[in-house]
Amino acid sequence: MKKILVTGAFGQIGSELVPALQEKFGKDNVVAMGHEKIDESYDGILEKADSRDKNSLETIIKNHDIGTVYHLVSLLSVKGETDPSLTWDINMNGLKTILDLGVRFDLKIFWPSSIAAFGPSTPRDNTPQHTVLEPTTIYGVTKYAGEGLCRYYNIKYGLDVRSVRYPGILSWKTPPGRGTTEYAIEIFYEGLQKGRYTCFLREDTKLPMMYVDDAIRATIVIMEAPLENIKVRNSYNIAALSFTAGELASEVKKYIPNLEVDYKPDKRQLIADSWPRTIDDSEAKKDWGWTYEYDLPKMTKVMVENLRREFGIPA
Ligand code: SER
Repeated sequence: MKKILVTGAFGQIGSELVPALQEKFGKDNVVAMGHEKIDESYDGILEKADSRDKNSLETIIKNHDIGTVYHLVSLLSVKGETDPSLTWDINMNGLKTILDLGVRFDLKIFWPSSIAAFGPSTPRDNTPQHTVLEPTTIYGVTKYAGEGLCRYYNIKYGLDVRSVRYPGILSWKTPPGRGTTEYAIEIFYEGLQKGRYTCFLREDTKLPMMYVDDAIRATIVIMEAPLENIKVRNSYNIAALSFTAGELASEVKKYIPNLEVDYKPDKRQLIADSWPRTIDDSEAKKDWGWTYEYDLPKMTKVMVENLRREFGIPA
């Protein structure tokens, strides 16, 4: 088979997608590409390159006979606001480079969008698949523009590029990143290690979330769906659960009864307030059979169990 390339392989999603792809297709068929962040303990084919560097990517695609690319490189919402130009450069020019190579080498491409593509003018409850997209962060602008670019490359060149709008993803293998939904990971890290957590969002802030195993499954399932089932070519809404910061804290307290949580909303609250509360994912369900498995109690349990083991904390 032609090999699979994963860019951003050592980020939050990549760290979990690469092992899942290795298990499914064999270690010899998966190439992990990192740039600044590389896990030295990684066992498999490794390439170090900047995803904006067309020549390096072209060499990697040719040398490894790549047929599929999961292009995961991205700066997230909070980091993005610290340097909008860099965020545009990495998120958009990286994507365009991959899409151009996709046309040239007939690649099948996965690229993640996000709930951040929506903005304050989008209906926040049961957000429809096709709706107003007026994001107010540079991260969201790159996701919105990226969706348009993917759709355009499909229309213009017939490129098979597929995408989902990830909600906030909860995972434990990589430390919390610089996003807005990352409060939901921080509460586990700090709760278990320090017994207290100051949340940067209000207690009643509700956002769409998903456990990483479900996100990985969505990613692989959409890529395996028959071509004719992929009807949405900008990006599919997918949903699992939606909870408030307070609801998550109550669930985590079932495992850490003495946990102290307080709420000191900062400018990240404005970002959270511009995003949906719940998502309508009926088109993903209908077109390629999307379902989720992890609800709030199940997700909380696996997060706590895995992080206790990581930190060497007895139950
Ligand atoms: N986790 C992302 C963020 O908060 C959402 O796509 O930036």
